[in-house]
Amino acid sequence: MARLVHIQIAEEKGRAPADEVSTGSAADFMPPLPSLATLQKAAAGCRGCRLWTIGTQTVFGEGPPTARVLIVGEQPGDSEDREGRPFVGPAGRLLDGALEAAAIDRDDVYVTNAVKHFKWEPREGTKRRIHKKPSDREVRACYPWLDAELTLLRPEVIVCLGATAAQAMLGKDFRVTQQRGKAIESDRGATVFATVHPSSVLRAPPDARETAEREFFADLRKVGQHLARESGTKRIEREREVGRAAVPAADVPPTRRRQPASRTRPRSERRPGRDA
Ligand code: URA
Ligand code: SF4
Repeated sequence: MARLVHIQIAEEKGRAPADEVSTGSAADFMPPLPSLATLQKAAAGCRGCRLWTIGTQTVFGEGPPTARVLIVGEQPGDSEDREGRPFVGPAGRLLDGALEAAAIDRDDVYVTNAVKHFKWEPREGTKRRIHKKPSDREVRACYPWLDAELTLLRPEVIVCLGATAAQAMLGKDFRVTQQRGKAIESDRGATVFATVHPSSVLRAPPDARETAEREFFADLRKVGQHLARESGTKRIEREREVGRAAVPAADVPPTRRRQPASRTRPRSERRPGRDA
């Protein structure tokens, strides 16, 4: 009975319920005044869902705290699980190629995942570990980490790779196939772009592979163009600031960045401080 009540409360609060090995939410492991370093350390001990029993280690996000772009994948893959770093395997190499082709500076990019443990199952008769898609419940349980990363980094642009990331950010009704490559304003104060996951490009059948890769690169090029335009706007803003006397204030476009973050985080989750 007590357990049923617990599950009911967890669900009412938008949390995944606890089970025998997990508390039901990463929020239970959030440090009081998060910084990227303390978040990463705390996430290493996360038991918010049962995936900590399956993956080797927590794979936290990585990149400079000043990054303008936050890229969200689904979950670490086999290589990432072994190395403990995001996007270091084949999908990461394809992503790196697309970023370079889009003239997006790696120093402007923070990479992370919607779910921070590798979910896999053994392939019978082999030693291979086969990727398994995380459930909604696991995505929900892990969301506090992504939310805290977004709160601390306050990126100008969020790029979602694949449906899991896009739906974690934009809701379950979001369809990557219909909305890919489009700039979507979010109430996070960031522009969101969604595209396919680079793993899906790598998995495409030989006759579709080239097109899949070209379209993936094209989506990231749109992100690069958006960033270049925004840099231009910022430069003009700065110049206007300098020569303010000559420019009526109303002429200066409002800065879209640096607004308080608020979004789809389940209400129950604690809000991490943003000045640590
Ligand atoms: N795929 C992902 O979604 N994330 C990674 O970190 C690696 C592969
Ligand atoms: Fe915690 Fe996320 Fe790992 Fe689940 S997947 S144990 S919520 S870090």
